[in-house]
Amino acid sequence: MNQPSQPDNAASRKILVTAALPYANGPIHLGHMLEYVQTDIWTRFQRMRGHDTTWVWADDAHGTPIMLSAQKAGIEPQQLIDEMKQEHEKDFVDFELSFDNFHTTHSDENRHFAELIYSRLKEGGHITTREIEQLYDPEAEMFLPDRFVRGTCPKCHTEDQDSDACENCSTTYDATELINPRSVVTGATPVKKLSEQYFFKLGNFEAMLREWTTGEQLQPEISNKLKEWFDGGLMDWDISRNKPYWGFEIPDAPGKYFYVWLDAPIGYMASHKHLLGDNTAEFDNYWQAGSTTELIHFIGKDIAYFHTLFWPAVLEGAGFRKPSQVHCHGFLTVNGQKMSKSRGTFIKARTYLDHLSPEYLRYYFAAKLNAKVEDIDLNLEDFVARVNSDLVGKVVNIASRCAGFITSRFDSTLADSLPQTTLFEESAAAGDTIAQAYESREYSKAIREIIAQADKANQYIAEHAPWTLIKTPGSEQQVHEICTLGINLFRNLIIYLKPVLPEIAAQTEAFLKHEPLQWQDSKAPLLGHGIEKFKPLIKRIESDTIEAMVNASKESMTEETTIQSGPLHDDPVSAEITFEDFAKVDLRVATIVAADHVEGADKLLQLTLDIGGETRNVFAGIKSAYSPDQLVGRQTVMVANLKPRKMRFGMSEGMVLAAGPGGSDLFVLTPDTGATAGMRVK
Ligand code: 2FM
Ligand code: ZN
Repeated sequence: MNQPSQPDNAASRKILVTAALPYANGPIHLGHMLEYVQTDIWTRFQRMRGHDTTWVWADDAHGTPIMLSAQKAGIEPQQLIDEMKQEHEKDFVDFELSFDNFHTTHSDENRHFAELIYSRLKEGGHITTREIEQLYDPEAEMFLPDRFVRGTCPKCHTEDQDSDACENCSTTYDATELINPRSVVTGATPVKKLSEQYFFKLGNFEAMLREWTTGEQLQPEISNKLKEWFDGGLMDWDISRNKPYWGFEIPDAPGKYFYVWLDAPIGYMASHKHLLGDNTAEFDNYWQAGSTTELIHFIGKDIAYFHTLFWPAVLEGAGFRKPSQVHCHGFLTVNGQKMSKSRGTFIKARTYLDHLSPEYLRYYFAAKLNAKVEDIDLNLEDFVARVNSDLVGKVVNIASRCAGFITSRFDSTLADSLPQTTLFEESAAAGDTIAQAYESREYSKAIREIIAQADKANQYIAEHAPWTLIKTPGSEQQVHEICTLGINLFRNLIIYLKPVLPEIAAQTEAFLKHEPLQWQDSKAPLLGHGIEKFKPLIKRIESDTIEAMVNASKESMTEETTIQSGPLHDDPVSAEITFEDFAKVDLRVATIVAADHVEGADKLLQLTLDIGGETRNVFAGIKSAYSPDQLVGRQTVMVANLKPRKMRFGMSEGMVLAAGPGGSDLFVLTPDTGATAGMRVK
């Protein structure tokens, strides 16, 4: 299973690769990057092997959470998803992902295919309708998806639990069983309400799915899991949602929308169509039933159900081809635990990029990934040690030990022959094992083999010590050949690492004055060839940098909390508060008696506020608008009875009120108005 569907020496394959579509309402973090790096390595590897490989994906831009996020931010969903797409795409480019198209599910192409697929399913008798009861928020006038209902656990009575399971006692239940349920949107008590919904009859595809899910398309762990799902019976799948909903309205059903999970995977097709434009023949070549091209999906284990049951059944029912492979990976933990905002291990892609080269993490992920559905741990200490030891100490070290001699002694030209040793042949032969490992997503195995080859090369150079040998008269030819072998062994390592380290590979190509390295280049040595002066290809990671990244992760999350709870948006879904609630807020005029930068914080300033005989220390996210010296002596309004909050930089004892769109337009302050500090504002 998960073997190449054709042998390594097969003629060029046509492969369409996808990664799961990120939701368009949140930043990309390292958990996402694990999958995208895995996808990218496989894609780059296939291209190096000469296979016609295309990677298409998109932002997953529909659904209630996106609609509500936009409302909360006081903007249209379109604006939110446009801005998010730009941000995501920049993260991906900076992480060196080699996708061919990153589109959006809120696109004309996706609407077209969602409608086409739905109409074909309907014609085929695979759609049915019936009335069902769901929880409804009478204040927001909307049906509530499960995660928008919280309440008290019916078993252990722990408060504020999710709608499906209790964090405290792990009991699972139905949202309707919660004690004192409330809508996350408004705080109102949800009521049960009937409405007609559209269902996809998954059971119509049971025979096909039972066979398809035991083939080489899936990993054994997933096939086994699916058996449980079959045993539980294949239920009809609700593919509709009531308005208000952000998505595509179902053509013959006013007020009903396609559920986000119907049109999300169709986004793979839509992105491909967008890439190919008018080339309909090529699109059909990939997507028509019976296509001989390969369709490979990389996904996380949490969404296996959608990709291994619904998606193949939907494709089959609509007359399209099914996936060749669905490859599932486990989750990412950091330092052995779930990523945590308070520990600073919930690391956004951008925060990582602000501190470190993407190649370090790409390498570390590669060194840990395999074909199983296992969780992967990013241990930050091990990360530093591994990158420094393998890449700096072993791989790049080979070139830096040999290149100087070639430049200074041999006119920057490699020798015409190699020394009498089988080392190069062994290194070339290792390419086949390494290729097999990449092909079957056993990246950790590939990396182990590559580093074993690096160890052999270093050992050879240490034993032949060209730096000593050169002192022996008449040894030039020998030194020339030893260093030429060293450079060729290094070149092979870089060929094998190129899917993982595209930037170091590009710098090596420049150093070797080489065309883009291909997999087969490792079979024959580079001889009698001019090279450039060697420049260091990679720096060691310093632990300080890791610390700074972790601190910045704590900070960016803290600041987000500060900022999100600050500005007042015209928020149609905020719960109303009574006058009594409002009266509890103790607003005071405060004089800013001191203002300072906060070391290590990008957005915060530390303010000392005098509220009349009492001073308060407050961290305020207003650095983008004011420098400390502009603040001292001015007055502002603060919430004086906000419960003190422990921040990384110290205790914050209140909150300054701000208004404005953000950035430099954030208005919090007046000149000294002469008001008495501490005076109540209401
Ligand atoms: O789970 C998620 O993050 C989804 N946005 C993945 C969608 S993948 C595909 F189906 F579109
Ligand atoms: Zn409980």
